[in-house]
Amino acid sequence: MRNSGTPSRLTGTRVYSRIIGTGSYLPERVLTNFDLEKLVDTSDAWIRERTGIERRRIAAEGESNTDMTEHAARAALAAAGVQPTDVDLIAIGTTTPDLVFPNAGTLLQARLGCRGAPTFSLEAACSGFLYALAIADKYVRAGDARCALVVGSEILSRITDYSDRSTAILFGDGAGAVVLAPAREPGIISTHLHADGTYQHLLYCTGGPARGPAPGPLPKGLPQADYVRMHGSEVFKVAVTLLERIVDETLAANKLDRSAIDWLVPHQANLRIIQATARKLGLPLERVIVTIQDHGNTSAASVPLALDIGTRDGRIKRGDLLLLEALGGGLTWGSALLRY
Ligand SMILES: CC(C)(COP(=O)(O)OP(=O)(O)OC[C@H]1O[C@@H](n2cnc3c(N)ncnc32)[C@H](O)[C@@H]1OP(=O)(O)O)[C@@H](O)C(=O)NCCC(=O)NCCS
Repeated sequence: MRNSGTPSRLTGTRVYSRIIGTGSYLPERVLTNFDLEKLVDTSDAWIRERTGIERRRIAAEGESNTDMTEHAARAALAAAGVQPTDVDLIAIGTTTPDLVFPNAGTLLQARLGCRGAPTFSLEAACSGFLYALAIADKYVRAGDARCALVVGSEILSRITDYSDRSTAILFGDGAGAVVLAPAREPGIISTHLHADGTYQHLLYCTGGPARGPAPGPLPKGLPQADYVRMHGSEVFKVAVTLLERIVDETLAANKLDRSAIDWLVPHQANLRIIQATARKLGLPLERVIVTIQDHGNTSAASVPLALDIGTRDGRIKRGDLLLLEALGGGLTWGSALLRY
């Protein structure tokens, strides 16, 4: 049964999708830079100066990705004022699902009780939420979904090598979600997705089910377990260039001057990358939702987490024009322009 609060189907005129609720979840345990000093040869000062990160959250033993998606999803649904059983599409971005299959969306659906709704999860690394959002937006615009749940959720601590100082300092766990409903006005104005697989060697996870138990031809000395591997300074340079390019693309596609943007809601990978994108937009850091100091890089969760925090603390207001962007392993990258 659909409850009476279900967003109604709009007919006759052009339909857009609009975010009607946001939610997020962070595990309780905090891992500080000082904690990491005890694990690898690093320092709080180095991590803060080079990344902007001070602490990150780590999922508890026994806590699952599905647990986190459920927390974030229920918070977003409550904010939207709709029932879990109203959801008619679940789109999840995650590279750390509990199982290869059933997909992460199916596991969440069973918790929410919206039986029959299509569900999927996709692994576009840190761009996963934007990829899921772009697809869900098209479902809503086409009239095929009236209450789409879009989630980004990661337990990166389970694929982080805590003996590798170049990656151990970066990643954290968390989840964020939004609910999309049809609207006569945008809403989501445009989405822009890209990928370039020739950059795959810059940032990747060493394992996958099709590789079998023994890793294939990987760089020498890699351990058997599946971990994130990254060429950080190269990713940094490419990220700054590609994110500046997608800012230009997004503004040009909508014939907008950069002064039109009220808020940048960026992927939280490195404060210096965020600052470069903000400079490109001519935005002071006060107009950027920055959460990296507290969350680290939560991959697909970072954009919806930042969005939820910026809306709940009252900085982002209804009617504001937002630019969301992310770049991750693949490389994949994307943006969304939306009127909140
Ligand atoms: C990872 C990152 C913080 C490293 O910062 P950087 O300024 O590029 O540093 P480099 O990798 O060039 O290393 C500089 C020096 O610091 C050292 N170093 C690396 N990690 C360190 C750490 N955690 N603590 C202390 N020193 C460290 C290096 O060994 C190197 O030492 P050397 O000069 O003696 O060889 C940065 O490159 C980055 O954020 N890259 C993008 C990552 C990203 O966005 N990933 C996800 C995309 S979704």
